[in-house]
Amino acid sequence: MIHRMQIGKVPPKPHTTFYDENKKLLMEHCLTREGFEGAFSIMYYRTPPTDENAVEKLAVPGFCPFEPLAEQPLYRRHIKTFDLKVKGDFLDARRVLLFNSDVQISMVKPTERSTRFFSNGDGDELYFVHKGKGRFETLLGVLPFREHDYVYVPRGIPYRVVADPAVPCEMMVFEGSQFIDIPKEWRNRTGQITMYAPYTHRDFHGPERLLTYDAAEHGKAPFKLVVKRENVLTVHIFQHFPYDLAGWEGFVFPFTFNIHDYHPKTSTVHLPPTIHLTFAGNNFIVCSFVPRKVDYLDRDGMKSIPCPYGHASVHMDEILFYVDGNFTSRRGILPASISLHPSGIPHGPHPGTYEKSIGTEKTSELAVMCDTYKQLHLTKIAHEIEDKDYHLTWVSKEGGAENPVTYIP
Ligand SMILES: [Fe+2]
Repeated sequence: MIHRMQIGKVPPKPHTTFYDENKKLLMEHCLTREGFEGAFSIMYYRTPPTDENAVEKLAVPGFCPFEPLAEQPLYRRHIKTFDLKVKGDFLDARRVLLFNSDVQISMVKPTERSTRFFSNGDGDELYFVHKGKGRFETLLGVLPFREHDYVYVPRGIPYRVVADPAVPCEMMVFEGSQFIDIPKEWRNRTGQITMYAPYTHRDFHGPERLLTYDAAEHGKAPFKLVVKRENVLTVHIFQHFPYDLAGWEGFVFPFTFNIHDYHPKTSTVHLPPTIHLTFAGNNFIVCSFVPRKVDYLDRDGMKSIPCPYGHASVHMDEILFYVDGNFTSRRGILPASISLHPSGIPHGPHPGTYEKSIGTEKTSELAVMCDTYKQLHLTKIAHEIEDKDYHLTWVSKEGGAENPVTYIP
């Protein structure tokens, strides 16, 4: 929830008569969060959203439902999402890779245009566009997206992804079971984003215009809305196009934020990853690592070490999605790699990278991090595209590199 927004026409007061150009009474629909206590938006439908005439079951294996990996011994993981081969629209081409009860982390690589819409009844969604461009067509309007955008879609808002077929589209998705929002650390008590936050209100972009029915774009009736709730999909079928609004206003709406608009902070010595905080969910955070000048202490014979120190954040699992640039602290990592460093065992830079970083002045790394309080579990699909040797890539000759032993289920 960023700020208030309005598109189209709304009456001066909620819950009052409001007619379209043909003198037809419009249907007011209030989408509220946390019962009636939280943020809300009020929409004005030309046809009631309850006017559906059929419901069907649906399964998209790998997305909903997905299969957890049966055994998960504790070690550092590297999931090569670039090896994930999928096809279909934005639902058929989506696969859950990591999950706990607070967040599911998926990759989606749509190769086909979809005529169906999707509404997530389990939580807010935060996409990160690794590659591609296009638009999200949502109940609250058309939202263009481009490479390296975060795209936020609130729980319960129908949408579909229309990717530009001229370029490949690959996106990571966080699904937060309770909420995903701007962290409270970056808001003042009126809710405004603070002067010292790493972004401003102007960096967030809502839908540009209302969605209107186009037979060439959306096909003919019936129109299908796929709804996810408790990891079960149902298809709700309408005989009219159900996303044709006269207007809406409120705080709940989808938006984009491009990672390059993030203002990084740097110090004399290395700051912890939380300085890159971007979004917060229930028991998890999302951070943005962007190109920046690095730590610059050089005094009395002391120099800062810009490479991250080894660490054990003993309450949190940590994943990094590598996007672009040089990943100075890791070997064997490529763009679209996901590393999982679980709590319980320490992690840090690969041998040699720590020392090599002394004296460097800037980094070009671009990455998205997610820290979770609860353990992240792999799905079977994530395990199929794992780099099985990653855990042992830190071991030195003295540590037994010539005779590595690990247990891979
Ligand atoms: Fe870390």
